[in-house]
Amino acid sequence: MLVLGIESSCDETGVALYRSDGDGQLLAHALHSQVAMHQDYGGVVPELASRDHIRRLAPLLGRALAEAGCTLAEVDAVAYTQGPGLAGALLVGSAFAEALAAALGVPALPLHHLEGHLLSPLLSRTPPRFPFVALLVSGGHTQLMHVGGVGDYRLLGETLDDAAGEAFDKTAKLLGLGYPGGPALSALAARGRPDVYKLPRPMLNSGDLDFSFSGLKTAVLTRVRELGGADAISDEQRADLAHAFQAAIVEVLVKKSVDALRQTGMQQLVVAGGVGANRELRRQLDARSVGGRGGRGRFTVFYPEFEYCTDNGAMIALAGALRLEAGVQPKAAGSFSVRPRWPLAELLR
Ligand code: KG4
Ligand code: ZN
Repeated sequence: MLVLGIESSCDETGVALYRSDGDGQLLAHALHSQVAMHQDYGGVVPELASRDHIRRLAPLLGRALAEAGCTLAEVDAVAYTQGPGLAGALLVGSAFAEALAAALGVPALPLHHLEGHLLSPLLSRTPPRFPFVALLVSGGHTQLMHVGGVGDYRLLGETLDDAAGEAFDKTAKLLGLGYPGGPALSALAARGRPDVYKLPRPMLNSGDLDFSFSGLKTAVLTRVRELGGADAISDEQRADLAHAFQAAIVEVLVKKSVDALRQTGMQQLVVAGGVGANRELRRQLDARSVGGRGGRGRFTVFYPEFEYCTDNGAMIALAGALRLEAGVQPKAAGSFSVRPRWPLAELLR
């Protein structure tokens, strides 16, 4: 079965083709990032995002088909992100996918964006096996989930306020870095010195698996003000603050992930979502895992390849194919609605 995946929930347009026969294979994935377009505005401008998705989808589809060596007539189902995300952006992808499915006479599969992230590590060369614990860290979400299989998700803990990626982005902004903040802040942090500034580790010892990151951002703001404001701080101070922020957030993410593994008795941790691209997070998780320093860890960590960490069409094509394999009934193409606010809890058991 050949599944076409369409992603357009935020600032990346993604189109991919996944063949589910046998072991499954990603045949092609084409992506356009709008980062350069939004950069001048310091963040994603929803209206510009929607307009750009409209411009990009058809050419990306052409590229993906050419790369896969397939024709549209071979497509068996069209999976797309129905939510959560920006309403206008979601509408573009949904309308495109539904119209295409209707024209081809194949079913449409509206999917939850986070399910795509949760399953994305299965695209990697060494995929995990079910069940596993997933740390989902994106711009809008920070959750620890127990993943028993496709469609079998249990929430273990989540952020009570800002998501990890959001905290990276907001802190980057107040340090005067551009958008998107995560990669810029982590690059700066690599140049900073450890232990120059001490920042809180919110909820580190709360005993549960929840997170809170908004106080951390405020703590950085307070330090910046004490140092005379964002315009007054030196490059060195900026790098040291970035280092302190990243150290705090990574320590909390690592501790809670290890706690989640211990509490569930799981031995596989999957890290998904944009913040999963963070090198320091990866370094510290690796150090605690089976292959880590001293080899004392009891768990194995799985990451999607860098290109599947951030938003992409491949994870949507994959999630669609796995859903179909698991027996989920796709709907007849035609009518559709988007779900800009779609709690993942609605997918839970
Ligand atoms: O999963 P994603 O592409 O989109 C959402 O569904 O939100 O995640 C985007 C988030 C942004 O907040 C971005 O700053 C963050 O992931 N991010 C990073 C890194 N790369 C992307 N955060 C920290 N370090 C990185 N290297
Ligand atoms: Zn995402």
